[in-house]
This record gives sequence, structure tokens and C-alpha cells, in this order.
Amino acid sequence: MLHRPELYRTHSVRETLAAVGQEVVLSGWVQRRRDLGSVVFIDLRDRSGILQLVFDPSRGTPADVQTAADRLRSEAVISVRGQVVERAPETVNLKLETGTIELVVTALELLNSAKTPPFPVQDGIDVDEAVRLRYRYLDLRRPEMQSMLRMRHQVTRALRQFLDHHGFLEVETPMLTRSTPEGARDFLVPSRLQPGSFYALPQSPQLFKQLLMVAGVERYYQIVRCFRDEDLRADRQPEFTQLDIEQSFLPPEAFQALMEEMMQHVFRTVLGRELSLPFQRLPYQEAMERYGSDKPDLRFDMPLQDIAAAVQGSSFRVFQDVLAQGGVIKALVAPGCAGYSRKQLDDLVRFVAGYGLKGLAPLALAGGEYRSPIAKFFTPEQLQALAMAAGARDGDLVLMGAGPRQVVLPALGALRLKLGHELGLVDTSAFRFLWVVDFPLLTYDEEEQRWVAEHHPFTMPRWEDIDKLETDPGSVRAQAYDLVLNGYELGGGSMRIFQRELQERMFRALGFAPEEARQQFGFLLDAFEYGTPPHGGIAFGIDRLVMILGGGSSLRDCIAFPKTQSGSDLMMQAPAPVSQAQLDTLHLALRAPVLTGDDRRR
Ligand code: AMO
Ligand code: AMP
Repeated sequence: MLHRPELYRTHSVRETLAAVGQEVVLSGWVQRRRDLGSVVFIDLRDRSGILQLVFDPSRGTPADVQTAADRLRSEAVISVRGQVVERAPETVNLKLETGTIELVVTALELLNSAKTPPFPVQDGIDVDEAVRLRYRYLDLRRPEMQSMLRMRHQVTRALRQFLDHHGFLEVETPMLTRSTPEGARDFLVPSRLQPGSFYALPQSPQLFKQLLMVAGVERYYQIVRCFRDEDLRADRQPEFTQLDIEQSFLPPEAFQALMEEMMQHVFRTVLGRELSLPFQRLPYQEAMERYGSDKPDLRFDMPLQDIAAAVQGSSFRVFQDVLAQGGVIKALVAPGCAGYSRKQLDDLVRFVAGYGLKGLAPLALAGGEYRSPIAKFFTPEQLQALAMAAGARDGDLVLMGAGPRQVVLPALGALRLKLGHELGLVDTSAFRFLWVVDFPLLTYDEEEQRWVAEHHPFTMPRWEDIDKLETDPGSVRAQAYDLVLNGYELGGGSMRIFQRELQERMFRALGFAPEEARQQFGFLLDAFEYGTPPHGGIAFGIDRLVMILGGGSSLRDCIAFPKTQSGSDLMMQAPAPVSQAQLDTLHLALRAPVLTGDDRRR
């Protein structure tokens, strides 16, 4: 039966707090119904909160309205008219924001009924995520998801406020474009008008924002969707949102200071938290040596200690061999863990083995004694010197790893994180920002046997390193910076090359033939000949920022309609096959899937 609504609303649930004694009309969903015989209670939920409705004939509810209320089921959509009253002191519900008041209902309209939902629409449910994603519209009704949406809105609003105040213009850039050199795989879109040609969805607006600097925009930003066809992890999505920024005529230090102020503004407006500025800075090399990561979580310290000098005199073959081959020997100190069992130690060995580290030698300091399977290779003095070098005290456990630098550092870095969490050393209420700076400009790709850009090919080298571009490419540092928060890479950017001559030297260092560079980036090289200002910028992951602000650990919980690990939208059932007619229009023919090397490895 079709029903044309008569009652809508005069107030939201939350606004009734200021409407005691008034007659109001409310609309929303039935959270739950309790039937006490003579009285029916219904919790009404709208976006702003939950309010108790009372259907009580002795307080003025017409009998037929009470009967209708008694038939309502969860998630039905209703409108009610009634009077907002204070609750009797003994019936106050301190768990509800509106727990001191209730609505005595005089009229009720059922606007729509609802099937029984596949899970209760409330916080703290223990439901398979696939079911939540399949019924995302119900999942999003839950208060914790609503508050995520609200926080996300507050974050982008605060960012826009700040950037507008500082003279940045929001400019949109195309979604149908060419490949940009961010280094992930592109999502491609076939062109109907130009058979055989494809657009790429942008991995970021990198080239456009640089061209906007050539265009004299001076200060640009955009809250923009980016697309990267990479293997997904908890902190990665195939489409994600960046706050993308670019500016001209500002040195890197001043730019970073501005970005710090922006973060301060966001944390102040969204969380009411005061961040102290400036943020710490750590050169990339130091971050790797000290924490085994280029995005260290500094909510606790537990640094990696270099113990090579201290173990040099020992007769332990593994250590001797590693040192002879130019490897490193590093140690972590697990405070108070001298009593770890054999099984606990084995678990740690297995953990680092997952990172390619071949062993993890323990040394326990207990009651003035040194216990270790490799103690026999050391004199007592050497053991003491070793414990000193690691900074261990009585009751501590020293965990030593030896091997190639590129294996030992990340393995112990991961172990540091694991132990930090397990031992409760992480201050989970803290927000620890850190700039990681002085990244190498280039890294050598063993597979391709050539130098590749660590960030992207437009990153400016440090001025004092430019002359090593041809002679010692590996030692050239970039004017690049990452902003790290609590162990997540929140953003990354750089100052850009703005002179054509240097850009061509960079392409040469990357092994691009001049024609190749021209073919891929000709428009940029052309633009660079028409008066390009010095410029640079950064992009932040908005999804990650919201995740950390909200204290979560899954990006999917911070995006209204996210994709699963396998890149599917479980609600829309995307991706999906298309009709032959659509393929024909696009001049596409399908063939059986060919497994590439990448797919087989998975
Ligand atoms: P970059 O590639 O470092 O830089 O990306 C910037 C930030 O975007 C976020 N991010 C992601 N978030 C979710 N899912 C993903 N798959 C994903 N990939 C990246 C991260 C990251 O720090 N154009 C350059 C920026 C510049 O040079 O100005 C760029 O895109 O938080
Ligand atoms: P094994 O000779 O493999 O029985 O190892 C003897 C001890 O040396 C064990 O405690 C190992 O964990 C340790 N060990 C072996 N290889 C390494 C390594 N690469 N780094 C640190 N310790 C190691």
C-alpha cells in the first residue's frame, strides 16, 4: 500500500535536548522495541543520536498508536509526534546522550518497513567483514561508521580552510589521462574514438600540478582520487584519496613548516589536540640505521645498536664471515625479557626468518650471568663489552642479527615494531610526527640493471650533490621528504627539477634515451622552456590520515565504499564482465587470461 508521508521532522534527535516541554516531530529508524505490557518503549535512531520514545496510554498516547508501535520491527522508518519530557530521576539512562529525556508519543506514522538486517545496526558487532561490505549501506548506519564519515568530512573541511587561508587554489585535473610515473601499475580505459589507444587513470596528478606551476598558479591543491593497480595491504587501496599540493617560490624548509601548521590546524579542529612544532627531522640513512625503517614509529625508542666493533674479537664463525663480507651486526634490547622461553625465542627467530634474516642470536642478562647459545665463542670480558655496546641491563634480552645490511635492517626494524607492541612500549595515545629527509635520488634496480628514481624522475637533487649525478649516482641525495606519523607514511613530496638542462641530465642518469624521454614527457620538457618557476610539493594520503586520527588500523573502515584485498566491491559486484556489444564498441576482443609472472608468484 502506497503511503504519502504526512509527518516529517521539526527536530533531530539531538536537538530535542534543547526542546524539553515542546511538541516536536522526529523521524528515523527503530533501533529496538521493548514491550512492558501497558507501555511500549522504542529507541529511535537518526544520524544525530538515539532517543527513547514512550507509548503510554496513561500519559496520553492514543490506544491505536500504542498498538501500532507494538508491531514495529527493527530498522523500520517512522515519524512520531509527541512531547519532550524530563525522565524521572530513577529512569535516567547515563549511557545515552539524551538519557535524561524521552518523547511521549501522540502520533506515529510508519514510513517504511524493513527486512531483518543481516547484522544488528549497532557498534561493536563481531561480523565477517565481507558481510559488512556486501551490506555497506547498513554498515554505514552504525554510529561508529557515521562518526568516521563525520570525521572524514571534518578533516577535509579543515584542510580546505587552512589552504584557502594561505592562498592555495583548488584546481581539478583530468581523470582520463596518460600514465604518470609513480611506479605502480596503471588502470587503463579503452578509447572508443581512437581504437587501440588507452587512457590511464591517474596514479597522482603529478605532471598536471607541475604544469599548473608553469601556468603561474603558484599555489595549488586538490583533494583528488588516485588509482594504482598494486597488490593491496591493510594500508593500501586501489583507489584512494590524496591531498595534493604544489607551490612555487618557497624553499623546502618554509614549505615543510607550512605543512606542519596545516597538520596542527587539522588536529586542533578535529580532535582538539595541540601538536607541538616543529616536527622532528631524521635523514633517511639515520632512520634506516637506527630504526630499520624509512617510516619509523617513534612512539617508543628501542633503537637498533651497532655491535660490530664489540663482537669483532669473538670466535663465532657466522659473525666473522658476515664482517668479512662487509655485512652488519645489529642488536635490539628487549627490556625485562631475559626469562624468555625456548619457544618464545624460536618464535622470534621464525619471525625474522620471514624477512630473510638467517638467524637471531639471543643473549640474556640474568642475575649477573650471561646466557646465550653462542656464549662459548666469547670471553667473559667480550660478553660484558657486548652487553655494554647494546645498552642492555640486568634482566634484559639482547637479540643479535648478522647479515647483509639490506636484510638485517628491515628484519630487525620489523622485530622492533613487534616487540614494541607486545611489550606495551607504544604510547597508543600519542601522535608522533617525523619528517624523513635526504632520501637517495636514485636506487639501483638489480633486475633491470639500471638506476631508477626513488621518488619520481622530476625530483630535485640536493644542489651540492648535482655534480655526482654522472660520476656517483648512488650518493646523490634528493630534496625529497616523507611525513611519517606513528609508523605510517602519511605523505611524500619533493622540490622539483625546473630547468630543462638538469631534467635532461636526470633522464640520462635513468638511462632514458633522448627520444624515449621526449616521447613520454615531451610536453613537460617543452613546458620547461617557457619560464618555469622553482617549485615543489607533497601529497598526503587522506584515508591514512583519517585512519590514524580515528585510532583505526584498516583503511577500509575509513572509506565509505572500499574495495577488498582482491580489488572487489562486494556490494556493486565490481569488477564484472560486460556485454559483447560493449566490447565491440570499444574494439576489444577477450582471450583466456594469461598468467603473468606476478600472478603466479601470488
Ligand atoms: P606518493 O606516491 O608518495 O607521492 O603518495 C603520497 C601519499 O599517498 C598515500 N598513498 C596511498 N594511500 C592509500 N592507498 C594507496 N595505494 C596509496 N598509495 C599512496 C600515502 C602516500 O604518502 N605525486 C607524489 C607526491 C609529490 O611528489 O608531490 C605522490 O603521489 O599516504
Ligand atoms: P646455528 O649454527 O644455525 O645453530 O646457529 C647458532 C646460533 O647462531 C643460533 O643462536 C642462531 O640464531 C645464531 N645465528 C645464526 N645465524 C645468525 C645470523 N645471521 N645472525 C645472528 N645470529 C645468527
